[in-house]
Amino acid sequence: MKIFVDSANIEEIKGFKNLGLVDGVTTNPTLIAKEKGNFEDIIRTICAEVEGPVNAEVVSVDCDGIVKEARKIIPWGDNIVIKIPMTKEGLKAVNVLSKEGIKTNVTLIFTAAQALLAAKAGATYVCPFVGRLDDLSQIGMEIVGQMAEVFSIYNEIKTEIIVASIRSPLHVMDAALVGAHIVTIPAKVIEQMFNHPLTDKGVEKFLKDAGK
Ligand code: G3P
Repeated sequence: MKIFVDSANIEEIKGFKNLGLVDGVTTNPTLIAKEKGNFEDIIRTICAEVEGPVNAEVVSVDCDGIVKEARKIIPWGDNIVIKIPMTKEGLKAVNVLSKEGIKTNVTLIFTAAQALLAAKAGATYVCPFVGRLDDLSQIGMEIVGQMAEVFSIYNEIKTEIIVASIRSPLHVMDAALVGAHIVTIPAKVIEQMFNHPLTDKGVEKFLKDAGK
């Protein structure tokens, strides 16, 4: 399973890259808005730092606008993936771009049926948002399990699942257990994954005993 960092903060990304944890990066307009600098500079900087896919999201809502925006973003890095919301116009744009070999990620996926349509349109990735479903008392990970199963039945589907809206280490492990290809994790949750009080206690005891 691959780990992407769900962040537009270059220092966070660099820190996790040094630990060998960054297979790719996802951003969205909300994450970009938290950073200093303009969209293009932020994405170019991340693309130069990270070898794997870097997801940059479009904000146009119609197919022509999305395709035009995608063409503007693509030269910003060799590893760009165009992130497009799950709408009819969005999937039209995915269809156009995928035929040109441009990688796309269909985001804001909340059902396995949406994921299937995105895959059929030619999406390289689909992005189910599990935390936001959990917020509505629906178990988000269920749809990930469904799409993983469907995608594995049909060899012609090459689309990979990037589980997003991750809120805890449990989400990460559940995504791994249901067979997601990728989990995109915010920095706070990656930090949480490192920790266990028994590890801290054990290290403390070993150091104390080593000094005896
Ligand atoms: O990648 C999408 C993710 O950033 C959304 O997370 O916590 O706003 O639902 P959240």
